[in-house]
Amino acid sequence: MSAASASDVTSVVSGQQPGLSHVAIIMDGNGRWAKSRGLPRAAGHERGVEALRRTVEAAGELGIRYLTVFSFSTENWRRPAAEVNALFGLLKAYVQRDLARLTQEGVRIRIIGLRDGLPDDVAALVEKAERETAANSKFFLTIAFNYGGREEIARAARGVAEAVASGRLKPDDVNEKSFAGFLDTGSMPDPDLLIRTSGEYRLSNFLLWQCAYSELVFMDVLWPDFDRACLEEALAKFHERERRFGTVSPGAA
Ligand code: IPE
Ligand code: IPE
Ligand code: MG
Repeated sequence: MSAASASDVTSVVSGQQPGLSHVAIIMDGNGRWAKSRGLPRAAGHERGVEALRRTVEAAGELGIRYLTVFSFSTENWRRPAAEVNALFGLLKAYVQRDLARLTQEGVRIRIIGLRDGLPDDVAALVEKAERETAANSKFFLTIAFNYGGREEIARAARGVAEAVASGRLKPDDVNEKSFAGFLDTGSMPDPDLLIRTSGEYRLSNFLLWQCAYSELVFMDVLWPDFDRACLEEALAKFHERERRFGTVSPGAA
């Protein structure tokens, strides 16, 4: 059975997504995109930023409220220093160039991941972006940078341990809901849809806790080629799915 009823289809067309407020994307394939053109990997990352701009715009137009993108993993430090530096430079350039416009458009920016280890200038810019957009609530753009799901869960566990040790939290009050509040995603809803580009079928340590019940869509397109049509294709796949959350289909008894 399709999850979308006839009336849902109308609202999808008019820019609302029933049952879909949060899309998360593993933006993968920049290196292969560049290699296939005989270009340096950094050129693929640059074109990847343009794909991100297109996607933020399309997501807003299509009625998505939360977009979370994986931009640098805790494992990506294993790449050559020049590539790591290029990726840090691109995050800075993106925030510097787009912050004023995003602020004006009502976008709230959040960066999730480990702040320790970020160069001072990047950390300062990230804090500025979060501060300047803190009052916005039209669209929530979250950039996972220096992010790893296991690191985030371990850090949340440390936060819980500290809260219990100081008496602010009782051991009996540690549960899924209170624990989730210690994660970087805080009170954000879990992703309804997780997209990974580039034909890889893995999570690579992204949002391990939050994606427990997300619908997964894997696409062959390389991230620099991703556009509104690709996003619409993923949304259409989402609307074909039936989310059961452990229960049975209505009428299945
Ligand atoms: C995604 O593209 C960007 C980052 C991981 C930072 P890749 O750089 O992983 O591209 P491929 O997977 O090598 O093609
Ligand atoms: C995941 O992609 C990280 C980001 C997209 C930022 P990778 O390209 O680093 O993942 P693996 O190494 O192929 O699993
Ligand atoms: Mg990759």
